[in-house]
Order: sequence, then C-alpha cells, then structure tokens
Amino acid sequence: MKFSIRTLAPARAAAGCLVLAARGGEELAREARQADKAAGGALRRALVRGDLAAKTGATLLLHGVAGIAAERVLLLRLGEPGKYDAAAFRDAVRGLAAALKGIGAKDAVLPVADLAVVGRGLPWTVRMTALGLREGFYAFDQLKTQKKPPAPALASVTLALAGTPVTRQAQAALAEAVATADGADLARTLGNLPPNHCTPAYLADEAKKLARQYKLGIEVLERRDMERLGMGALLAVTQGSRQPPRLIVLRYAGAAKSKKPLVLIGKGITFDTGGISLKPGAEMDEMKFDMSGAGSVLGAIRALAGMRAPVNVIGVVPACENMPGGAATRPGDIVTTLSGQTVEILNTDAEGRLILCDAISYVERFQPEAVVDIATLTGACVIALGHVASGLFANDQRLADEILAAGEDSRDRAWQMPLWEDYQEQLRSNFADMANIGGRPAGSITAACYLARFARKLKWAHLDIAGTAWRSGREKGSTGRPVPLLVRLALRKAGRR
Ligand code: BES
Ligand code: MN
Ligand code: ZN
Repeated sequence: MKFSIRTLAPARAAAGCLVLAARGGEELAREARQADKAAGGALRRALVRGDLAAKTGATLLLHGVAGIAAERVLLLRLGEPGKYDAAAFRDAVRGLAAALKGIGAKDAVLPVADLAVVGRGLPWTVRMTALGLREGFYAFDQLKTQKKPPAPALASVTLALAGTPVTRQAQAALAEAVATADGADLARTLGNLPPNHCTPAYLADEAKKLARQYKLGIEVLERRDMERLGMGALLAVTQGSRQPPRLIVLRYAGAAKSKKPLVLIGKGITFDTGGISLKPGAEMDEMKFDMSGAGSVLGAIRALAGMRAPVNVIGVVPACENMPGGAATRPGDIVTTLSGQTVEILNTDAEGRLILCDAISYVERFQPEAVVDIATLTGACVIALGHVASGLFANDQRLADEILAAGEDSRDRAWQMPLWEDYQEQLRSNFADMANIGGRPAGSITAACYLARFARKLKWAHLDIAGTAWRSGREKGSTGRPVPLLVRLALRKAGRR
C-alpha cells in the first residue's frame, strides 16, 4: 500500500473511496462537514437516519454521492469528542482498515486532520494513521496453498490536508510511519514463521539480506567463534539442538562515526521447548515466538535504515534453539559466562537470560551510548502486565524515561518495574557465582536482576515483551511490537520529537 500526503479538498478528490469522519451522534468532523456541504447535506442525512453505528470504528459505505467526486464515501465513527482519545483513535483506525479491506476501491482519500486527538499534533496523527492502516492490512498467508483470502484491492492512500500546506514535519512523519511499518512487518513475519523455517541460520540470512539491501555492516559469529570467545552460557543453551547457533551483528551508521551507537540486543530463541526442564505441551507451539526480540531488532534496524535516520545503531542477535536431548544441558550444570562469572543452571527453561548475558558482555566492545535488550523473557511478566505494556527495567533512569516516553509517543507502551538490590539475593547459588533462576516470587524482576549483573559497565535497559510480542487464540500472531517504540527511541535520541 502506497501512502502520500497532499493538500486536497475532500469533495473534489477523484478516488475510489473518500473517508469522512463522524464524531458522536449526527455530528461530522470539520473537513467532513465541508464535503457534506458539497454533497447538499446527504452525509448528515445518512447520520440522522441512524445508519452509522455509534461504536468507535463503525463504518457506513455510500455509493455515488452527488457532489462528491469519489466513487464511494466511507463514513467512519470516531465517537463523542470528550471521549475521543488515543485508544479510541486506534479503534477508529482499526475499523477503517477492516472496512477498506472489504471493498473494491483501489485508492482512498482520507482528510487526516479530522482524526486528530487532543494533545497530539498533526505529525502524530499522520504517523499513527499510516502505521495503523498498515497494521490492519498485514497478512501472513505465505504458507497457505488453499483458500487464501483475496488480497485487498486498495493500493494507495492519500492523506489529504484541506487548505493547509503540507509541512516538512508532516512529510517526515509519513516517511517515518511507512519505514516503521516495513520494520514491524518484518518483525511480524519472522515471528509468524514456523520454527522449522525460522532457524538461527535463517535469521542470519535475513540479516544478511537487510545488509545487502540497505548497505549495512554485518558480521555473523558461529559456534567456534563463540567457543573462542568463551560464551559458555550461550553455548550451554544451544548444545542440545541440531540447529547451529548464530550471533548476528548488524550495523546501521546514519550519523557521524564519532557518535556512540545505540545497541539493541534481541533474544533469538527460535524455539523454546524448555530443554531438559521441559515445558508442558499446551500452547508450546507459541514458543516459536521466542525470537520476537530478535525480530524486533532486525525490524527496527530495517525501519531506521529505510528512513535514513541520522543515528548509529548496532543490532545484536544471539540466536539458537532450546532443545532437550542427550547433549543438552542438565539442571545443575555450571558454566562460565563470557564475563567470567559462573552460573549454576538450575532450570534449563530460563535460557533467555543465558544467551542474553553473553551478548551483553559482548557489546561492551562497541562502547555504546546505551544498550537495550528486548526479550520474551518471563511468563511472570505476562501475569504482571498482561498484553498491554512491555516490562521495563533499567540501571539508568534517564534511559528508562526516554524509553517510557518513546512508548507513550508510539502508543507501544512500557511500564517500569524495580531493579532493586533487595531482589538480588534470590539468585544466590551454593555452588556458583549465581543461579539462573530466582524462584516464583517476582519472576520478571529476578530475571532482570540476573541480566543487570552483566551490564554493570553499561547504560542498560531491558524490555520484557513476553506479553506484548504476540497474540494467542483466534487472532494468534506476532504483533511486531516493540518496533514502533524502538524506532521512536532511536529518533528521540537523535533529537527528533
Ligand atoms: N520464553 C520463555 C518465557 C515465556 C513463557 C514467554 C510464556 C511467554 C510466554 C522463557 O524462556 C521461560 O521459559 N521462562 C521461564 C523462566 C522460569 C523457568 C524461571 C518462565 O517464565 O516460566
Ligand atoms: Mn524458556
Ligand atoms: Zn524462552
């Protein structure tokens, strides 16, 4: 789907579909009212007859409205002005996307300012509209050979500004949204791919593809490199699997060499059985999404490179599979991490922190400005925050605040949890420097506390995306989160608000 933004009076737009917003009751939004004038009041009459449901996101399709150049008019319900906030905006855009998917129009025109939310400027509205529509149009059907739903006809969307010139900020917002959507699509597709397709080697190949396409620096470490370096924790996780591990390093340099990079580390467990501490069978298929952190890192880099963002970012993805078997790590095994600290692996299902701790030590060499790891780390995080917010932990409050703000801004929100020393004692081991689990209480926090022991020399934050990276049930699938947050974070750091 192609997006553009231009100055255009809605009634005169020759398009397959003109989208006009209705607020509550019989009230049309501002630019929609102008169009209604040209239509001799036909749109308001439809509202008066009660044909548009009151629910935010409801739509009503009208054909051949006299005075309107477009073939169709799609009325979109926003809701009562007092109740129309960012959450209602999201519902409205979702409803719009669903309606546009179901009609034959090839192009649509949308007076985007009518969707504006109090307190958020036009660039935000442009960005979130384009991102929301792209999200609604995402489909993963590459592995269905039959009964594929027909592709939507809609090929282009024009965001129309009536009577106001298109500012550079609005243009930049649209470019940012399109690139972010491309990145989120990549993250979603990598997440949705089955674990027999999306292996560590596959992730590395995808990273190489990105490197070619966007002229990025790339380096891929293999098992022997990890052995040479002494990544005992990462090696312990991969040793039960037939799939060879990879450690992917992807660099995007959009700013001066002297500018220290933002390092993003993504957990890339392409399937998590739990290992010898085997998981129960129910919903185990969803552990193909355990590489969602990795997907979000590749997606964020694709987005930033695609929009030529003035930032330096290095993406690091430790990728392997967590399997049981004769060669697998046993509960009780003690390994030496890249940092030199020893770990007693009391539960092989707490594998994410094992691959991440070595990746965190590894990135010290890049002298990062900041490090953020992104991981589907703990089921406990789903219990704490559900599917709404990602869990945030940080050893630097300014970094935490930037991440929280980036989350608010992109509506891809995080919520900070404590990283207090008080929790560290739960990780004590009788036989090694630490254990890899801290017991049932505060499971997400002790996982973060474990990682913090490897990040002492870094400005570091950790995002636990166990609850936000994918949806279960009928709508099962990757969400592409937190690509929008990560992109916003990198741009904020580059001074773009
Ligand atoms: N990948 C899982 C976390 C997870 C579980 C995410 C369910 C989403 C849904 C992680 O590797 C894991 O197994 N964590 C364990 C840790 C425990 C053994 C300390 C967990 O959360 O149960
Ligand atoms: Mn696990
Ligand atoms: Zn896992």
